[in-house]
Amino acid sequence: MPKLSVRGLYKSYPNGNGGVTRVLDDISFDVHDAEFLSIVGPSGCGKTTLLKIIAGLMEPDSGEVYIDGTRAKMGHSKVGYIFQQESLFPWRTVRQNIEFGLEVKGVSPQERRRLSGEIISLIRMEGLEDNLPHEVSGGQARKTEMARSLITSPDLLVSDEGLSNLDAQTRNYLQEEFLRIWKETGSTILFVSHNVDEAVFMSDRILVMSNIPAKMIGEFAVDLPRPRERASTGCLEYRAKILEMLRIEQEKALARQGG
Ligand SMILES: Nc1ncnc2c1ncn2[C@@H]1O[C@H](COP(=O)(O)OP(=O)(O)OP(=O)(O)O)[C@@H](O)[C@H]1O
Ligand SMILES: [Mg+2]
Repeated sequence: MPKLSVRGLYKSYPNGNGGVTRVLDDISFDVHDAEFLSIVGPSGCGKTTLLKIIAGLMEPDSGEVYIDGTRAKMGHSKVGYIFQQESLFPWRTVRQNIEFGLEVKGVSPQERRRLSGEIISLIRMEGLEDNLPHEVSGGQARKTEMARSLITSPDLLVSDEGLSNLDAQTRNYLQEEFLRIWKETGSTILFVSHNVDEAVFMSDRILVMSNIPAKMIGEFAVDLPRPRERASTGCLEYRAKILEMLRIEQEKALARQGG
């Protein structure tokens, strides 16, 4: 049974002219247990909308989300969410940020401390736990967000451009950290990125979304051994195929606008 099943999702938003704009148009896919699945697609195509629906933060117009075969309704808390914008509480220390989800669940302070200690060592940030977010690097802040999402042992971890807005070196480092943590925790990951190189480097499988109304237009099983070499022929071949698909999609969108 898949970890996540998305079935026939439709979503429209009011467009300001009294009408609606359809964003998601019959989106269906599965994510398997312990899989690393990425979704790439043009900006504004509905990736964040899709993740919010999966995480139970937004209701679709129609369609269903199943986690471990059970229908996931609005407000469920089975998904750990790494947001597109940095979302750490600036007044809480690293440790207090990481423990937030456990506090909400009413976990005792001793147990919180034990679990946050484990995860701080998993992300290799011992010694920084009492710092505030502005007292750690951008990369460490991202790892803190990752830890905050992981600490409640979610069934599924979704990352919405979780590694964007970082310099190339930090981004590469965090990609490797993210992969290590994925392996060590056995998590299932749904990863949204507009960076095709990143998706190829990290994923077991990549889905490509079209412009709105967004459909799934492509699927690539990345059949390359790990650890991967970013500049290897294999990676570059997948990259070229996916970029070509996105280029054709972009030209279609431009033709629609022009016509
Ligand atoms: N609350 C909202 N009300 C109206 N329109 C919205 C709302 N949220 C998003 N949209 C529109 O829906 C479309 C999809 O937005 P979404 O944020 O899901 O895209 P995205 O693929 O995550 O984009 P990006 O790659 O830039 O993050 C966009 O055209 C956006 O303007
Ligand atoms: Mg987005």
